[in-house]
Amino acid sequence: MKRAGKILRISLLVLAVLLAVGITFTIGWRPFLGPRMRAVTNRQFEPTPERLARGRYLVQGLLGCETCHSPKDWTAHGAPNLAGMELAGQVLPLPALPGSVTAANITPDRETGGGNWTDDEFARAIREGIGHDGRTIFPIMPYDAYKNLSDEDLASVVAYLRSLPGVRNPLQPTQVKFPVNYLVRGAPEPVTEPVSGPNLADRVATGKYYATLGCGCHRAVESRPYGGGENLKGPWGDVTSANITPDPSGISYYDEATFIKALRTGYVGARKLSSIMPFGELQNLNDDDLKAIFAYLRTVKPVKHRVDNTLPPTYCRLCKQKHGGGDQN
Ligand code: HEC
Repeated sequence: MKRAGKILRISLLVLAVLLAVGITFTIGWRPFLGPRMRAVTNRQFEPTPERLARGRYLVQGLLGCETCHSPKDWTAHGAPNLAGMELAGQVLPLPALPGSVTAANITPDRETGGGNWTDDEFARAIREGIGHDGRTIFPIMPYDAYKNLSDEDLASVVAYLRSLPGVRNPLQPTQVKFPVNYLVRGAPEPVTEPVSGPNLADRVATGKYYATLGCGCHRAVESRPYGGGENLKGPWGDVTSANITPDPSGISYYDEATFIKALRTGYVGARKLSSIMPFGELQNLNDDDLKAIFAYLRTVKPVKHRVDNTLPPTYCRLCKQKHGGGDQN
């Protein structure tokens, strides 16, 4: 009896250790402990005219906040925002999500938007993934990219958002299914060190900064940055993000003019880009910034991965899903 008890105790101990090691190296402890977060501070971002202009430029252009937070007319090429509803939030029209995810109303409406949130609550949400109420923000909101936003650009974005007219738009709260609602708690990361922007004289570094902030869908497969492969299905159709590296299967055939034209018009030659590629917003970037992004993309490692949304979806052994031209990989 004694011996059986000892074996049982040892077995349970071994099991507990294995479980602990297993959790540590797979999902981590955050699903149980809650997200990493810092307390909000009382910092305030002074809304100078420079900041308001810069914030508007970033929010309406590069950062793509409107793609998710503004209801859109997906029937029109470029998906314009519905009039009067800018940044007033919406339930994201993405059937592949594990539940229903609402991009919040981030206008300063006091009842249905962010009118009562502090500057630092906004700042923490944008770069660190913690909502004003301490909740983990579902990581489709790209805070993992926005953590690179410089302190000054962050201040500009928050100051701009707070200067907008409040729009009343009550929305149902996000409801993510189990177990994903727990797993996402591993995503937020506090930003506790100062973040500086690029040296603007260095065009490739500037382009890298902008591409990091704005071109996330093309970077979805971590082992093949900018090689595309994120499937995006919704009211705009069923498309997969393109390979934008300088490989022959990517955009090696582009020159700077082709790139600028694609981002301004949503056409590559006669081929129409899907409106989930936010050229309707990126077209607001000035020539210099678009050129910097192109200069940077020319320096990234070429990735061999053919994605062609004009072809029927076929299995791709590289990204293990179906997309146009997948069988050519
Ligand atoms: C790809 C979609 C997407 C983009 C792009 C995006 N967001 Fe979000 N955002 C969301 C979703 C979805 C939520 C809410 C998630 C949840 O409820 O768990 C959210 C939440 C927020 C919140 C937190 C609201 C709260 O309850 O505290 C703020 C603030 C915010 N976003 C601001 C921005 C800003 C500013 C930008 C651009 C710099 C931006 N978002 C870009 C999808 C997006």
